[in-house]
Amino acid sequence: MKAIAIVPGTAGSRLVERAEPSITAQDEIKIRIIRVGICGTDREEVSGGRADAPDGQKELVIGHEMFGQVVDVGSSVTGVKTGDFAVFTVRRGCGECASCLMNRADMCQTGKYRERGIRGLDGYQTEFVVDHEQYIVQVPAQLEALGVLMEPLSVVEKAIDEALQVQIVRCPEAAVTPDWLHGRRCLVAGLGPVGLLAAMVLRLRGGQVYGLDVVDANTARPKWLDGIGGCYIDGRQVQADQVEKKIGGMDFILDASGIAPLEFNLLDALALNGMYVLTGIPGGDRPLQIPGAELIRQLVLDNQVMLGSVNAARGHFQMGADDLAQAHLRWGPHIAGLITNRYSPDQFAGLKDQHQPDAIKEVIEWAQPGR
Ligand code: BGC
Ligand code: ZN
Repeated sequence: MKAIAIVPGTAGSRLVERAEPSITAQDEIKIRIIRVGICGTDREEVSGGRADAPDGQKELVIGHEMFGQVVDVGSSVTGVKTGDFAVFTVRRGCGECASCLMNRADMCQTGKYRERGIRGLDGYQTEFVVDHEQYIVQVPAQLEALGVLMEPLSVVEKAIDEALQVQIVRCPEAAVTPDWLHGRRCLVAGLGPVGLLAAMVLRLRGGQVYGLDVVDANTARPKWLDGIGGCYIDGRQVQADQVEKKIGGMDFILDASGIAPLEFNLLDALALNGMYVLTGIPGGDRPLQIPGAELIRQLVLDNQVMLGSVNAARGHFQMGADDLAQAHLRWGPHIAGLITNRYSPDQFAGLKDQHQPDAIKEVIEWAQPGR
């Protein structure tokens, strides 16, 4: 079977031949890949950045945002059956710490976790994959067109859920309101797929959502935001430190930009008792000047939280499936409009690390869904 592989630390990717995997344990599931998303992490890997091949291998098969259909199940599998649509999670535990033993490798305590398609394990840009039942999440057939968004959405669900849990514990009024986000001013920075999915989840929870980026308002990403009732802020016209004056302080900020200077500047827009969750992973190591004392003073005197969040557990994927279903009901085909570009596997090998300006989510199509 075909797969897209890189040699970690070098630029470029290519199509390789791999042996088709088959089930070797009773709790395993084999999936035919239908499509796999491409994200910033993949682009970084393809340009020679953060990536590790499996032990004893030079190449790494990339891809972690998968969606496929079950084609075979081991004898002890009860959760899915042949023909079901499903995704596998990304992270695999260290096998040592309490989090990993609870299938919460997203909170691994030793740092010795692996990630399919990123760190130490082959990924999903290929025709078939096999993995254990504990890593699978079923996707309802009605969400076939949206299932490829499950992984980036799971990252969003985890970040927002963690942030809310913290607010509920520390804010007296949050514990007695059905949804702390309802009617709150929420700012999402960086309107790539993660930022737009975050805007979608915050809108579903009743938030008043602002999205910040540095593109023209009549381009794809601001237009998509507008379609779910979000309000676009052009960061070239409104700087982070003017947001509070012009719009009001933000009770909730989610960063999906991965641009370190902006990530610090956004603190200027955070309201009293505000929650700021970061999901963007900045590349490079360029040092940066920040007014440290002022920022820490503000964090303390204003009771603010800055929270980093990465990866997601199976439960967050499940929350994602529920929200996709709700979003699909509420906004219909608009949601599928997040997937803007489709490529064949051999096209990707030539795509390198460039990004189409009006693209939102780009995916590789491996197979047609079957019945
Ligand atoms: C993936 C996460 C992963 C993170 C760090 C992100 O692109 O979506 O699943 O944990 O990269 O490798
Ligand atoms: Zn990703």
